Amino acid sequence: TKQYDYVIVGAGLFGATFAYQARKAGKKCLVIDKRAHIGGNIYCKDVDGINVHYYGAHIFHTNDRSIWNFVNSFVEFNRYTNSPLANHEGKLYNLPFNMNTFYQLWGVTTPEEAQARIQQQIAELNITEPRNLEEQALKLVGTDIYEKLIKGYTEKQWGRKATELPAFIIKRLPVRFTYDNNYFNDKYQGIPVGGFNKLSEGLLEGIEVRLDTDFFGDPEYFRGLGEKLVYTGALDEYYNYRFGALEYRSLRFEHKHLEIENYQGNAVVNYTEAHIPYTRIIEHKHFEFGTQKHTVITYEYPATWEKGMEPYYPLNDEMNNKRFKQYSNLAEEEENVIFGGRLAEYRYYDMHQVIGSALVKARDELQLPRLENRA
Ligand code: FDA
Repeated sequence: TKQYDYVIVGAGLFGATFAYQARKAGKKCLVIDKRAHIGGNIYCKDVDGINVHYYGAHIFHTNDRSIWNFVNSFVEFNRYTNSPLANHEGKLYNLPFNMNTFYQLWGVTTPEEAQARIQQQIAELNITEPRNLEEQALKLVGTDIYEKLIKGYTEKQWGRKATELPAFIIKRLPVRFTYDNNYFNDKYQGIPVGGFNKLSEGLLEGIEVRLDTDFFGDPEYFRGLGEKLVYTGALDEYYNYRFGALEYRSLRFEHKHLEIENYQGNAVVNYTEAHIPYTRIIEHKHFEFGTQKHTVITYEYPATWEKGMEPYYPLNDEMNNKRFKQYSNLAEEEENVIFGGRLAEYRYYDMHQVIGSALVKARDELQLPRLENRA
């Protein structure tokens, strides 16, 4: 028999959730991660007592009570509600698009006036078959919202003109005719008290973890250590890129420590003008209602992904999805390997979704009973 029941590649939310369930079922696990820390992309770095969301801003939200209860069993969550602002030419607008935004744009105060304004702008454009993202967005929300709050931001994010992006990227653009700045519609939302590392630490408590350890340093060795392998790294890398690399959009973060108490008064401010190179500024202390003397802000710059860079957003276009299918056909043939998480499945997952997916895979694998209270 092998030394471990499961060797788990990746100490992110998928790997950690799977490991937790396996340990609870009496299995012996080894978790390895090539990074110097656990948590994967939810990792926070302590800078001067502030939890800096090191790989991008993370806000936990879900409609699923069983998943909410699950994460709350490791750490209490605070009442943080995501309500980002958009800065356009120095003027601030509330997001998501709601009555506050419409008041700021046009001075209208009633839902009826706001609806009329949007409908009038859409009608004047007379777009029937949108040929690109720009026309699609205009058809959904009219000229003002598009020009001021969508166009520049979207072009920066994708690194292409809105007229050169396909219409299907935007299917809906939610507009709300209430004065409600809560970005998410989910029932449960918050940030772990003390930061996201508390969640990762809770999940991995009592489990052997080896950091700075790359599976590809010696794949045969790591495979040989366990009865089964749980792999949460990139799927194309697992197969040595034999069908070509799966493409991503990336991000570049510039963190700044400022010797002032409060820089922007909100955790998230988007910059919607095309000529400003970053898309947002995050002020981390506000996620936890921090009262520290100083503050840390992060500029988020969209970037074209190249091999060696951190892969953030999968580019799920036709070419890449086809390539992914080739890889996942191989993966399905594997006998003792479980693939999971955002990299192995090449899809954008929110945290609650990746936890949900790991719980389901662990349940099937370990033959555990179903979680109760699914909403
Ligand atoms: P994750 O990438 O976290 O973990 C995989 C781990 O495997 C990594 O630690 C990696 O080092 C390791 N690994 C890979 N290859 C390896 C190898 N060869 N050897 C050893 N280790 C290896 N969600 C949400 O709910 N609310 C939010 O606000 C946000 N915000 C957000 C912002 C940004 C910019 C991004 C990109 C994503 C979000 N998310 C989010 C999504 C969230 O980050 C995501 O759901 C989880 O972190 C995914 O967890 P995984 O375990 O799948 O991957």
